[in-house]
Amino acid sequence: MNYNIAVIPGDGIGPEVIRETVKVLDRIADKFGHKFSYQQLLAGGVAIDQTGKALPEDTLSACKSSDSVLLGAVGGWKWDDLAGDKRPETALLSLRKALKLYANIRPALLFEELASACPLKPEIIKDGLDLVVVRELTGGIYFGEKGTKETDMGPAAYDVELYSEKEVRRIAHTAFDVASKRNKKVTSVDKANVLESSRLWRRVVSETAKEYPHIELNNMYVDNAAMQLVRDPKQFDVIVTSNIFGDILSDEASQITGSIGLLPSASLASGNFGMYEPVHGSAPDLAGRDKANPMAAILSAAMMLRYSFGLLEESDEIGSAVRKVLKKGYRTPDLMEPSSAGKEVGTKEAGDLIAEEICPFILSAGKA
Ligand code: NAD
Ligand code: IPM
Ligand code: MN
Repeated sequence: MNYNIAVIPGDGIGPEVIRETVKVLDRIADKFGHKFSYQQLLAGGVAIDQTGKALPEDTLSACKSSDSVLLGAVGGWKWDDLAGDKRPETALLSLRKALKLYANIRPALLFEELASACPLKPEIIKDGLDLVVVRELTGGIYFGEKGTKETDMGPAAYDVELYSEKEVRRIAHTAFDVASKRNKKVTSVDKANVLESSRLWRRVVSETAKEYPHIELNNMYVDNAAMQLVRDPKQFDVIVTSNIFGDILSDEASQITGSIGLLPSASLASGNFGMYEPVHGSAPDLAGRDKANPMAAILSAAMMLRYSFGLLEESDEIGSAVRKVLKKGYRTPDLMEPSSAGKEVGTKEAGDLIAEEICPFILSAGKA
């Protein structure tokens, strides 16, 4: 099959991790007889520098006519002083909104091979960790009214958290559907003891739960959820939460799995269309140094094969290639522990090793 993939490398380590991801996708194409056509597009800081706009119109229209979007990361120190509506991050937010990507799926899986990279005690993690954060992605405080005004305490700024019943219901359905295929447990995270928007959230999620009698629903306040994630993360199966709480909790969950450099994500519209991006950012501290872990981006491509293209075997092939490389002891610097005997590799070598696991014959033939 032929697939058209819109590729947005972005800023910082984005281009480095996307280069390795495309390398891995090409091996999948060779092995399984697919054709992936990539259209490289500008967005973020690099687009500001070259076109004056964080999200050029060409980029948005190319994404709309693609089969799916693969994105590295946007943002960086260079653009940190720009006005809020001119920053590189607006490209990402506008893409999510314009492409109607309301459901952000962020699986946090602790690979057996990385058990010792988990900062929690072994007795907390026992035989591993496998949870999914389902984050609402096109509503809430990210997209509510915002502005500045004068107050009796001087100049002030505000951002409004607003959720409609419809927005909450559709993300609740996503979470219950995800849980139906997993351990049948949803924890809805809110701040209903204080926020009106959270009380609406809790009511609508609880109403929606009635359509899924086989799923257990728990409601939890976000402060408690942040604490429970490090006290007893194994109690979670699917966490469903708002845009801002999901942003924060998914970074916390990522570190439990060893590194933010491992966590992939899928941002889905209704239907098969999606944008796939690692949970991490542009890591300006690592950019251009061959130190970034490309696994989050590579695993995001695996999610693309699964969710947008329905290529389950191909998707699993990428997941197992990543695991084999970890099992052999290769570690990017973020996964190196002082006491471990891991073999340290850079971004490029990690990508080569993963690609080689997918198509050993072709690569070793090339080397001979
Ligand atoms: P970050 O995720 O870029 O980095 C946080 C820490 O994690 C840093 O120490 C970094 O070195 C490390 N890290 C991140 N990715 C890694 C990887 N693949 N391998 C190894 N280590 C990795 O978050 P930040 O520093 O808060 O943000 C930097 C910039 O990225 C900001 O401009 C922010 O707005 C942007 N950002 C973009 C996205 C995105 O485009 N999806 C996501 C988050 C942050
Ligand atoms: C993420 C990022 C983005 C977010 C930023 C860069 C706009 O942190 O995807 O997690 O807050 O959604
Ligand atoms: Mn984030």
